[in-house]
Amino acid sequence: MTIPSLPKHSDKWFDSDFKFHDLYPLYIRELAQKHWTPLAVAQKASDFLAAEPGVKILDIGSGPGKFCLSGAYYNPAADFYGIEQRNDLVFYATIAKEMLGFNNVTFIHANLINLDFREYDHFYFFNSFYENLPGTYKIDNKLNYSRYRYNSYNRYLCDQLEKKPAGTRLATYHCSEEEVPDGYHLVGTAVDHLLNFWIKA
Ligand SMILES: C[S@@+](CC[C@H](N)C(=O)[O-])C[C@H]1O[C@@H](n2cnc3c(N)ncnc32)[C@H](O)[C@@H]1O
Repeated sequence: MTIPSLPKHSDKWFDSDFKFHDLYPLYIRELAQKHWTPLAVAQKASDFLAAEPGVKILDIGSGPGKFCLSGAYYNPAADFYGIEQRNDLVFYATIAKEMLGFNNVTFIHANLINLDFREYDHFYFFNSFYENLPGTYKIDNKLNYSRYRYNSYNRYLCDQLEKKPAGTRLATYHCSEEEVPDGYHLVGTAVDHLLNFWIKA
């Protein structure tokens, strides 16, 4: 006889994106469609990145934590880390984490150019620097956006990813191939080619 598993306390938040967004205040919910990863995408991306138990997965620009929190729900044997430059988003990510009761998620308030990627095994990137380009949707008006920042953040990211060993996994969402460093090979794609899976050779 198969014993059905009991629903977890957190299950109700993962019924739909709409329900998940109730973890956040209104202004964060209103940004979701343009800026936060849908649950179905987070599930596919985290399934790819959580290749072995205990791996450390970094979301590069984690916003209010939607990718990390949903990844941690779908893949509880992996550890999820999010780095985010905006203090308010880290604050609400941490509150959502506490409401969900997850202990395999850590949020870091910092600019990614101060982070050493050697601490992490695999990476998720939802075109985080894009709002620096003219004519794009911004999360808020609190930062100085510039093409210079877009280029320097991308350079730092490529440099860090290039230093990672063979076997490193990268999932990109809404990114062009030019943003992926040499040495990473496309091994799969999903969601109309918007979500791409890469492994370093
Ligand atoms: C498109 S949102 C994605 C949020 C989250 N990864 C998700 O998928 O739901 C990109 C986030 O990256 C953050 N970000 C952009 N540049 C950053 C930097 N240099 N350091 C840290 N965070 C950054 C932005 O503040 C924003 O919250």
